[in-house]
Amino acid sequence: MHSFAREAIVAYLKIMRLFDRTQKTHSFVARSERLHWDNLSTGENGVALLTSEEPKDPSASESSVRIAHNDARDIEHGNDNGGDVRNVVKRSAWVLSALFAFFSAFFCIDVNAADAPLERAPDTMQARVLGCAACHGAHGEGTDSDYFPRLSGKPAGYLYNQLLAFRDGRRKYPPMNYLLAYLPDAYLKQIADYFAGERPPFPPPSAVTVDTKTLDLGKSLVTKGDAARKIPACVSCHGPLMTGMEPAIPGLLGLHSDYISAQLGAWRYGTRTTIAPDCMAHVSRLLSDRDITAIAAYLASVPAPTDANPIPAGSLKMPLACGSVQP
Ligand code: HEC
Ligand code: HEC
Repeated sequence: MHSFAREAIVAYLKIMRLFDRTQKTHSFVARSERLHWDNLSTGENGVALLTSEEPKDPSASESSVRIAHNDARDIEHGNDNGGDVRNVVKRSAWVLSALFAFFSAFFCIDVNAADAPLERAPDTMQARVLGCAACHGAHGEGTDSDYFPRLSGKPAGYLYNQLLAFRDGRRKYPPMNYLLAYLPDAYLKQIADYFAGERPPFPPPSAVTVDTKTLDLGKSLVTKGDAARKIPACVSCHGPLMTGMEPAIPGLLGLHSDYISAQLGAWRYGTRTTIAPDCMAHVSRLLSDRDITAIAAYLASVPAPTDANPIPAGSLKMPLACGSVQP
């Protein structure tokens, strides 16, 4: 069983390498996977990001919502830009291989007890989270992909809330939903603690792809907010250096701009939800597509500070209540 598990992991890593040829493939797969899943879960024309609601600003060609629309339309019409049947097959193979490897790694820990001790896999957390590494990096540092987030160093309470949210369907991304489907709370807590304690170096900040005016808008919204539009400064909860606050507010650095804009878009359109009162859903709905593009570009361009630890619980008086943060 153990060598079987090892072979499964090797096969999985090979497949992942195959799909790792270009960053584009990864982010496309991630985006279209999300659409695919939403479509399945909400039925005909029910893709929340796709058809149930048009973006409020139709000119916003850069927003993640618009990208999602285009990808989905291409899939629907079989356009040959990568969004056709071949990709559906590839995606399925990819998800299956991820699941296969993860569960092999997970179960071989118990199965090994009955095996000869010779080939025992090390029962460490690092071995258990091997199935996560291809997408999140061995230490949760993230990968080059536009869409796979850094996990390490985020507060354990935040990570735990996200694992519960994926398991219980408040947050939707099929590979994650499947991987966590049957895992007990205590196990998820251990995974969260593991990644919260990791401190791999941050990636260099992303090159800026927006004009100076847009970047300035992003900086201003993040650091000051916009009183006239009742938008609170992001730093008022995420910390003056955006390193997050214990126990459940994440740092916002070391993430790709596509990931950040997709999350804000997901809150706005209701495909990512948090325990009520959902302060991030509230904040996201106050932001225009341009604001989101600006904020995402700005955050991705900020280098991480030397001390990137989340600030202690209760250091800030939050401008809104957040259900996921215990008072
Ligand atoms: C196939 C790729 C893939 C695999 C395998 C995977 N993840 Fe993820 N993970 C993602 C993506 C993509 C997201 C962002 C999804 C979204 O849009 O909400 C994510 C999000 C997360 C988040 C939320 C991060 C945040 O900052 O909000 C956590 C925590 C997480 N994953 C943990 C894990 C763990 C633990 C494993 C292994 C058991 C794992 N993931 C395996 C791709 C993956
Ligand atoms: C009132 C406090 C508060 C304010 C203000 C706030 N946030 Fe948040 N933010 C949170 C909390 C709490 C979470 C965790 C939500 C959860 O558990 O899913 C969060 C999560 C996030 C995430 C998810 C990170 C990830 O890794 O997936 C992003 C992105 C984000 N916030 C961006 C922003 C931006 C941009 C602003 C400013 C426009 C902002 N936040 C303002 C409290 C706040």
